[in-house]
Amino acid sequence: MADLLKTLVVLGARGDMTGRLLLPALVRLAESGGLPDGLEVLAVDRDAGDDEGYRSHARAKLEAHLPGGDEKAADALLERLSYRQADVTSAEDLRAALAGIAAPMGVYLALPNVLFRPTLQALADAGLPPDSTVVVEKPFGTDLADAKALNELIARSFDEHHVFRIDHFLAKQTVLDILGLRFANRIFDPVWNSNHVARVDITWYESLGLEGRASYYDRAGALRDMIQNHLLQMLALIAMEPPRTMTERDLRDHKVEVLRATQPPPPEKMRAATRRARYSAGTAAGRQLPAYADEEGVDPDRGTETYAEVTFRISNWRWAGTPFRLRTGKAIDKERREIAVHFKSVPHEPFDDRDRPNVLRFRLSPDAISLGLNLNAEGDPFDLEQVSLDAEFPTQDLPPYSLLLKEILEGDPTLSIRGDEAEEMWRIVEPVLAAWADDAVPLEEYRAGSAGPSGPHPGV
Ligand code: BG6
Repeated sequence: MADLLKTLVVLGARGDMTGRLLLPALVRLAESGGLPDGLEVLAVDRDAGDDEGYRSHARAKLEAHLPGGDEKAADALLERLSYRQADVTSAEDLRAALAGIAAPMGVYLALPNVLFRPTLQALADAGLPPDSTVVVEKPFGTDLADAKALNELIARSFDEHHVFRIDHFLAKQTVLDILGLRFANRIFDPVWNSNHVARVDITWYESLGLEGRASYYDRAGALRDMIQNHLLQMLALIAMEPPRTMTERDLRDHKVEVLRATQPPPPEKMRAATRRARYSAGTAAGRQLPAYADEEGVDPDRGTETYAEVTFRISNWRWAGTPFRLRTGKAIDKERREIAVHFKSVPHEPFDDRDRPNVLRFRLSPDAISLGLNLNAEGDPFDLEQVSLDAEFPTQDLPPYSLLLKEILEGDPTLSIRGDEAEEMWRIVEPVLAAWADDAVPLEEYRAGSAGPSGPHPGV
């Protein structure tokens, strides 16, 4: 394993990402005793400022985004913070800002993704000490060509073992539980294939609307925002072959292998196997939302979707014949965040009763796993009833971002996305993006606060 980082450099230190996610995650890590001794945090942004000014900015962000957080842990973080001004796209500025800081250093690009390329270019031109680490947020690029260009730029300055492409879903408790459930229990593997699994549904429905993120979201849309990364990662963990060990090479090789086998719908099936929609005005989870097209900063002519659904196929021995339906939507009243493995019916039904196939569900936030079983009912013993075996989990000790930071500081990329993996995920969604851009699939509407677009789901 690599040496512990001595300095974490945050580019975009006054931005939304740092204030809302990074600083709170660092405090939660400090609270658990996970901030390595001697680690310094260098905050870099384009505004003039000094250490004290940045510390009060950070304190205000912590009060807003981690209310009631541990004050001692917050103080421990604030003490390690210093600030330097720089235009992150200027090699000269970066060289000056990074002069004299302790190595090995990790550079966190907490920036809008339009700045990734010029910043990586500037870092390459500035020259970093050997063994430096880089952290890049999602979405990693805007399409396959952009992801490849980013990977090439990264390779100029960083060894792949020191590259952390973030997908915070990989640090969620229930997502990690997929690995334990599949690979530490003998009972699942014999039925984990298309002989027994009718379909897999990976669903992420949230009641949140745009939340002021138009500058990013209106150019991304639901397919790029959720399916290209988080949902395909969950598909990879559900569908991958058992790895030899849980270390980064074995785990990531196996994820890439199954992603390589994952196929988008062919052009003639695009309309039947995909669906896109955006919300109209309504009330979701008690909040009145304007139509997406009327949200501030949205260009309605872009036709950005807030709901996306795609049925993928996996061309390999284990999964040929089982559809994987990935779907996500915003402003949906009934939140649903789960992976549902739907098993086939029993080969013969000896009970005079309706067929209710078993479903294994991994539920995310709140974290739980449930298995629906058919058992004899009370009363008439030859009636059946479906019972659910539920395991609910307490809130995760370290929230996902804190766990990822711990891995970054320790130099372990197991839970981050490898370069070839990011490219595979773009390869999978790109034909869908192209078909949607060509209007080969109509853009439907659903009312904010409804259950999403009506009508039958595509492709199953
Ligand atoms: C982010 C997406 O990556 O994940 C958001 O950009 C989405 O649109 C979010 O709401 C969901 O993750 P979490 O962990 O915040 O619920």
